Amino acid sequence: MLHILFLFSLLFSAARGSVQDFCVADLTAPEGPAGYSCKKPAKVTVNDFVYSLSAAGNTSNIIKAAVTPAFAAQFPGLNGLGISMARLDLAPGGVVPMHTHPGATELLLVVQGTITTAFIDSASSVYLKTLKKGDIMVYPQGLLHFQVNAGGIPAIAFVSFSSSNPGLQILDFALFANSLPTPLVEKTTFLDEAQVKKLKAVLGGSG
Ligand SMILES: *[C@@H]1O[C@H](CO)[C@@H](O)[C@H](O)[C@H]1NC(C)=O
Repeated sequence: MLHILFLFSLLFSAARGSVQDFCVADLTAPEGPAGYSCKKPAKVTVNDFVYSLSAAGNTSNIIKAAVTPAFAAQFPGLNGLGISMARLDLAPGGVVPMHTHPGATELLLVVQGTITTAFIDSASSVYLKTLKKGDIMVYPQGLLHFQVNAGGIPAIAFVSFSSSNPGLQILDFALFANSLPTPLVEKTTFLDEAQVKKLKAVLGGSG
């Protein structure tokens, strides 16, 4: 029995010695596939582990919405910990257009106003709900989803992600804010030339 305990304590001390408690992002070096490299422990302070999402984002834009990220690039302490957050501000009439986070499942908590939201699965089934203050919804990793302000007042939500770098691809931007030639966009979206040119103009695409 003592023998086994001794073996366990050896194993634990070996494990403790080989595992770092954290890896605060060194933002002076480029990000790799596994995240940022680690800041020297002597240079790490408590402020690397604290961030504020108290400020409202600027919703004076075409979508009347703002997403304020707290990802590894803004919040170095969560580098490598597999978690992150963001604040979502939706002015009346605001929308976060159809988008996906390729790298993370998302949880959304409404703290003000009402938000109509849905995700669409691989079989094109729609999961649609209007959320009120205190409601939470989960969006499975990689699936397309959107948020629309469903009320007459600004809506606020906080979202958390199962990755410190969830990624973001907005469908309309991917389709129309690029330089892909219009005939190919028509071909691949089944839209006509006038519609494609209009959307490219609105969203800043060319071609
Ligand atoms: C919000 O964004 C708009 C458009 O870019 C800009 O004109 C305005 O000054 C910004 N407001 C604040 C408070 O930053």
